[in-house]
Amino acid sequence: MSPRNNIIVSLDFDSASEALELVERLGPLAGSYKVGLQLLTAAGPTVVRKLIVDGKEVFLDLKLHEIPTSVSGAVSAAGALGVSMVTVHASGGSAVLRAAVEAARPYPNLKVLALTVITSLRDEDLTELGLDATVPEQVIRLAKLAAAAGCHGVVASAQEAWLLRSLLPAEMLIVTPGTQLRTDAKNDQARVATPFDAIRWGASHVVIGRSISRSANPSETLAVIQAQVDEAVSS
Ligand code: C5P
Repeated sequence: MSPRNNIIVSLDFDSASEALELVERLGPLAGSYKVGLQLLTAAGPTVVRKLIVDGKEVFLDLKLHEIPTSVSGAVSAAGALGVSMVTVHASGGSAVLRAAVEAARPYPNLKVLALTVITSLRDEDLTELGLDATVPEQVIRLAKLAAAAGCHGVVASAQEAWLLRSLLPAEMLIVTPGTQLRTDAKNDQARVATPFDAIRWGASHVVIGRSISRSANPSETLAVIQAQVDEAVSS
């Protein structure tokens, strides 16, 4: 991904038409989009192909958790589509991560990102799963596993980005969802990191969904976020 495309706009829609309407509204302001399981399941890869033909970069958030052969096949298919990023669960283990990295090798622009602990899990949920670790401990463990397997980056919250930046090789990407502008309607999160915070704390990219898609003026909101991110990158 080019450094300019450090804001990835998430297309969390259940139809191609809604997704493409937002893409049309944002025009050249957005260079990179995330397509996840909702849109992919509803609309198939057509939207992905259209974005790529239009010169956009695509983060295909497949969240793969499968046997190595199946993960390898899915990563190859993502590479053939021309996407720039694909996600695999680090908890699948090193053989799965290595299979994903190997499958991406013929596609030099394709980055394999590892997911560590999904953000909805708390320490007690890990105990329920039989894991004797806190969430930060597990995030660090899995991120190191991903680095050792050759993954190009991880997906991590802004708080985790702070933890991981000093532990991971400098070239590893840290892609951070779950940030909000302070002007967004408050939700029940106790601490809300802004896109500025995320980049300052070590993220290489931020993923932004509803802040843009639910904005009365998505282009204006994206421009505000881009200004924040540019300031954080240069500070
Ligand atoms: O919250 P927002 O609408 O910006 O979310 C954009 C994307 O980031 C969604 O696709 C969601 O899956 C992901 N996300 C996440 N962890 C969060 C919040 C959002 O992975 N805490």
